[in-house]
Amino acid sequence: MQMLEGHVVLVTGGGSGLGLGVARHCLSEGAELAILEYDPTKGLALKEEFGDRVLVCQGDVRSVEDLQACRAAIIDRFGRLTALIGAQGIFDGMVPLTETPVDRIDALFDEVFSINVKGYILTARVFADLLREERGAIVLTCSTAAYAADGGGLFYTASKGAVRSLTNQLGFELAPHIRVNAVAPSGIANSQLRGPAALGMENSKQSDIPKETFSEGFQATALMGLPTPEEYGPLYAYLASRHNAIMTGQTVLADQGVLNRAVISAAGTGGIPASH
Ligand SMILES: NC(=O)c1ccc[n+]([C@@H]2O[C@H](COP(=O)([O-])OP(=O)(O)OC[C@H]3O[C@@H](n4cnc5c(N)ncnc54)[C@H](O)[C@@H]3O)[C@@H](O)[C@H]2O)c1
Repeated sequence: MQMLEGHVVLVTGGGSGLGLGVARHCLSEGAELAILEYDPTKGLALKEEFGDRVLVCQGDVRSVEDLQACRAAIIDRFGRLTALIGAQGIFDGMVPLTETPVDRIDALFDEVFSINVKGYILTARVFADLLREERGAIVLTCSTAAYAADGGGLFYTASKGAVRSLTNQLGFELAPHIRVNAVAPSGIANSQLRGPAALGMENSKQSDIPKETFSEGFQATALMGLPTPEEYGPLYAYLASRHNAIMTGQTVLADQGVLNRAVISAAGTGGIPASH
């Protein structure tokens, strides 16, 4: 039996990168699938790839109206929902706080937090009743940035710390009816994660960095190679499925061993601190 047979899964931010890889995996595990995606060009590409097999909702996780329209389309087509997978996000451009223009901080904070944090809160609120009826699951996307410095700038890092905390709280509030967990990746191949419009970086994407350069940078601290979005699929599928009867309120570090390493030897000191 496939892991997601009998499941109806919604992936938010499923138009590229992690969400798309996870969506493809959920389909291969027998799920009925809906994807909510903000970018209309990616929405068209989804329709081309999946045809009628997937319900594609074009919309913004920041908009209650868009979420309710997606909810209505899901009820219309499937009559129920068993899992919500949150995969949307944007980056903050990694600009140090002291180099961030003071007059951009309001806009930058609002932009990053509204997509990376409020979007997850609103989707949980709008879909909780459907998930409750099915004893379903929510799986959110955190980051190693929530655990250690330098995985993003201040705004991205704080937003992912908030995802980790809201996973704790939602797991508590929605128990025992809905299991709520998150996954914290450290790096993803083929990601189109974009920068913030508040700093004029909305057109710069992680995919602009040459693959080899990104991969080499990642390998400098990771113990395993840079994973594809599809390689995250089995973990998300497990957490979204009824096979997970043991975990709620947890964030799973899926980081290729990045945080399992002290970096002294990577700096070429042979394990001896440079000052000695
Ligand atoms: N790329 C990495 O190395 C990395 C590492 C750790 C965590 N993450 C996290 O993984 C998640 C997926 O990122 P990705 O790297 O696959 O990037 P991505 O840009 O390829 O995918 C994110 C998707 O979310 C969509 N989206 C953005 N704003 C939206 C909105 N308001 N409403 C609906 N959809 C919206 C985008 O259009 C895009 O399709 C994010 O939460 C990101 O923070 C990424």
